[in-house]
Amino acid sequence: AKRSSIPDRLLAWYDRHRRDLPWRAKPGEVPDAYRVWLSEVMLQQTTVAAVTPRFEAWVARWPDFASLAGADEADVMAAWAGLGYYARARNLVKAARAVVAEHGGAFPRTEAGLRTLPGLGAYTAAAVAAIAFGERAVVVDANVERVVARLFAITTPLPAARPAIRAAAETITPDARAGDFAQGMMDLGSGVCTVRAPKCLLCPLREACDAFASGAPERLPVKAAK
Ligand code: ADE
Ligand code: SF4
Repeated sequence: AKRSSIPDRLLAWYDRHRRDLPWRAKPGEVPDAYRVWLSEVMLQQTTVAAVTPRFEAWVARWPDFASLAGADEADVMAAWAGLGYYARARNLVKAARAVVAEHGGAFPRTEAGLRTLPGLGAYTAAAVAAIAFGERAVVVDANVERVVARLFAITTPLPAARPAIRAAAETITPDARAGDFAQGMMDLGSGVCTVRAPKCLLCPLREACDAFASGAPERLPVKAAK
């Protein structure tokens, strides 16, 4: 019973505390799949603070799939400079070209369809399917992994715990507003359920959280010794 309250509590919290980020649709707006995808790729190894100005500059220059598909690859690599993991930038151009050449200029609208594009791995495809298209995809990044491991008090060390964390995340993902749920979980992980000293007294999920009940939520998730 307490776990069934998690989606509603999290969504109500997100409605009050959602961060206004340049790739997020405002309430009532239709998300722009190109912007959602680009932001998710940029955010994979880079912080929100570092990504924000780079995202703004990028979409001013290449605002959609068609413009990115027509971009000069050297210009794209220069625009990516400093963000690291340059395969991500090469795959952005490849995927934009595939969208234009093979999908009529629009993204496939399902997680499975998205997976067929260059650079769209499990995380990115799930995030775009949920955030841009409202599919009930299970979106688990490092922040969400930590929140879920704590909610369910999963004590198996990472990375072995990943399948259990995914399965647990699946049980709390709502049919409606899957994208808001995913972004709410990310925001909760980055701002409230932090690695050190989680702010449980500010957390909307406290009453449903097994790690809070244990008294030492910061001990989770456990990481395997290197
Ligand atoms: N990190 C990865 N994706 C994100 C998103 N959509 N919002 C905030 N942080 C994120
Ligand atoms: Fe994280 Fe604490 Fe919220 Fe549990 S109650 S999800 S440990 S912030």
